[in-house]
Amino acid sequence: MSDACSPVRFTVNGRAVEVALPPATRLADALREELGLTGTKIGCNAGDCGACTVRLDGAQVCACLVPLAQVEGRGVATVEGLAREGRLSRLQEAFHAHGAAQCGICTPGMLMAADDLLARDPRPGEQAVLEALGGVLCRCTGYRKIVEAVLDVAGTGPAAQRDADGGVGARIAKVDGIAKLVGAEDYGADDWPEDALVLRALRSPHAAARFEVGDLAPLHARFPGLVRVLSAKDVPGPNAFGIYPVGKDQPVLAEGEVRYRGEAVLALVGDAATIAAIRDEDLPVAWTPLPAISGVAAGLAPGARRLHAHLADNVLVRGRVRRGDPEAALAGAAAVASGRFSTSFVEHAYIEPEAGWARRVGDRIEVHVTTQTPYMDRDEIAHVMGLRPEQVRVVPTAVGGGFGGKLDLSVQPLVAIAAWHLGRPVRCTYTRPESMASSTKRHPAEIEARFGADGDGRLVAAVFHGDFNTGAYASWGPTVANRVPVHATGPYEVPHVRATSRAVHTNEPPSGAFRGFGVPQAAIAHETMMDELAGQLGIDPLEFRHRNALRRGSVTATGQRLEASAGLQACLEGLRPRWRELRAAAEAANRECGVLRRGVGVACMWYGIGNTSMSNPSEMEVGIARDGAITLFTGALDIGQGSNTIMAQIAAEALGVPASRIRLVTGDTDLTRDAGKTSASRQTFVSGNAVRLAAEDLRAQLARLGNADLSLLPEVAKGCVAMGRGRFDPPTTALDAEGQGVPYATYGFAAQLADVEVDVELGTVKVLRIVAAHDVGRAINPVQVEGQVHGGIAQGLGLALMEEYLPGRTENLHDYLIPTIGDVPPIETILVEDAEPLGPFGAKGIGEPALIPTAPAILAAIHHATGVRIRSVPATPDRVRAAILAHGARP
Ligand code: FES
Ligand code: FES
Repeated sequence: MSDACSPVRFTVNGRAVEVALPPATRLADALREELGLTGTKIGCNAGDCGACTVRLDGAQVCACLVPLAQVEGRGVATVEGLAREGRLSRLQEAFHAHGAAQCGICTPGMLMAADDLLARDPRPGEQAVLEALGGVLCRCTGYRKIVEAVLDVAGTGPAAQRDADGGVGARIAKVDGIAKLVGAEDYGADDWPEDALVLRALRSPHAAARFEVGDLAPLHARFPGLVRVLSAKDVPGPNAFGIYPVGKDQPVLAEGEVRYRGEAVLALVGDAATIAAIRDEDLPVAWTPLPAISGVAAGLAPGARRLHAHLADNVLVRGRVRRGDPEAALAGAAAVASGRFSTSFVEHAYIEPEAGWARRVGDRIEVHVTTQTPYMDRDEIAHVMGLRPEQVRVVPTAVGGGFGGKLDLSVQPLVAIAAWHLGRPVRCTYTRPESMASSTKRHPAEIEARFGADGDGRLVAAVFHGDFNTGAYASWGPTVANRVPVHATGPYEVPHVRATSRAVHTNEPPSGAFRGFGVPQAAIAHETMMDELAGQLGIDPLEFRHRNALRRGSVTATGQRLEASAGLQACLEGLRPRWRELRAAAEAANRECGVLRRGVGVACMWYGIGNTSMSNPSEMEVGIARDGAITLFTGALDIGQGSNTIMAQIAAEALGVPASRIRLVTGDTDLTRDAGKTSASRQTFVSGNAVRLAAEDLRAQLARLGNADLSLLPEVAKGCVAMGRGRFDPPTTALDAEGQGVPYATYGFAAQLADVEVDVELGTVKVLRIVAAHDVGRAINPVQVEGQVHGGIAQGLGLALMEEYLPGRTENLHDYLIPTIGDVPPIETILVEDAEPLGPFGAKGIGEPALIPTAPAILAAIHHATGVRIRSVPATPDRVRAAILAHGARP
């Protein structure tokens, strides 16, 4: 065993190395910090995520759990060693071809686990793959394309369908995919200046408390490597940030009071060893806990303590859509269904925790960070620092998953303020528990719904109210409160509607944006209403939905007439054969009367693409250089969903060149224009249109230049001799007091089937298959669209069956369960292309639509299997078992 000063000798990818670090140093840290091999990722440092998987003497291990001393004399293989002489391995090629890497943060771990398997068993079957890769979590892909890639290499599964190059519609591999496969992609924690100091936030252990900070001098004396402790008074500008200009209510560092567990109070800055050595208890903070408000009922209770002085009732915002006379229509309905539903906090659980660094450059601050929204970050940082936006440069790193959670500030203001004051670079990486405690969540919802239909099975009325727990700060609460009423009917024609919502403050984590902005919660309610009405009227659930589906010419609850691209009926028609076949098979299986019951459910969704009734433009530039190189300058952040590839394909199509001709400059606010946020499923539709317009502009300029020699032309901007510019802002209108207007320019539609098996004695639910039909307008790249469908389904499965964030109790990936490779079943995808005339080459969006129908489809399948309705998610075994017992279905 080595001591702290003795070098540990081992090989990495066949190369002999020596590392002189303490013997208990984690191998993952030694690889990354000492040897610069940042291809090995850290998602949890606790053995839960597998992102750090390497091979040690051939066998996969979690490098975060292996002490350096244990590798003395042994051989370590990392992702950087897979490619040989500049050529990808067959496994890497297969991942590339199958679209098995989305954000790519799990990819090194997946590759190393698969490499281990294939070394032991060159021709594994699917079960062996599931077992070998079972320790590595992926939050993006839904795992199926990873399984396909490994089976392809093994020769036990089909090869990828892939186009080598092309424009719109081509199944090309990610244009930026190689770096993710070889460990060369730099995420937020992967690169930093040599002289960077390290920052760690002290966070509240209480959900509600007042606090005082005592004398810090003794701490500095005890820890000379502690350079500065920042508090609220060090925030140069207003100590309040938030998404909406009128809703900046969240402090960078709390001022005397904390409103949720995990809120940042102080920021310690110093050398890495010192910051790691200081424990929270070393800090002189005196806490006075206050009674915490937990849950919307407590927030709304008469006399409840105000979280924010200006909100007497703790209601942040209300949303409303009203059309016709729903009460009268319900009174005359042939069938009326009603129900109450509740959902939990859901954690984004991206595998890459929040991370970044900042440095001061003269009177500017430069922030390198994992983010979904560089321009919004720029403006927010400028706001809290009292700077002009031009004084802030945001340089996005690669993003290891976001799903809405990286739309809010995290490390950005902390490292920016520290670097500004200290004149030295400062970096920060959240730990997994810190990420989970401090970041935004999906809003827990309490929903009441009442829907009615006439004797012909046509919906006549819907009444809906949802209370959404928006936690301690506003974040995206207003977005959820406004989006939900618009979508509350589901994708159906309903002439009489009253849909209302409230976002309610509590002493819980801020709820923010999470893939769907409240619509997944609402879908659980409206889809249950569909099933119950169909049941009362004796109509097949799929046919009931088909009869009521929004279609071209339909008028929505906001009074908007759908002029085009409303392919829900086509989605349902695509599912119909499988629906009949799977329902019949389930019912036949259930005649056996065993403890395992089969069920098949269907659910639909619609989703407005882009912001609700708000301008959300995107601007793009496409330029050509003297040597003919074409560059797309895109501020649309690719967070794994593939937008870099989609934008390149759109530019290529508009210019009449293959996508391989398009180079990309992405994200940097000094080099690209504002393309808005990567959220609301808007990038393909909004930014894709801006790319198309920019490329058409460039093409027109080149046509005007005729046969002019590019090499002789003067440069106009950014190394280009001609620059095309495009801007697109979806045509919407404001909603009036009754919620009437045109909130979105277009909508995505989908229907999914879930085939499940329920163990009625244990209450466990196994999803056997999902069949997903999605109207995407036009699939710019079918591989990417399928990837989004798979990933959304995996997250919808988690929402339905297992995910429940409990502050203080599930702040790690051991206690907070997300679907593993063994939980996601085979997925059949049907793409419906009902072209959207406003979309780029007909395209709409897919990011959020993929998730929304999954949970209600699974709940409907549980009902088909057991006869019980689960109205509180997740449908954990205890809840399912209790419902079965209450229903009397089993003794
Ligand atoms: S970082 Fe090692 S298992 Fe998560
Ligand atoms: S691709 Fe697996 S976590 Fe993003």
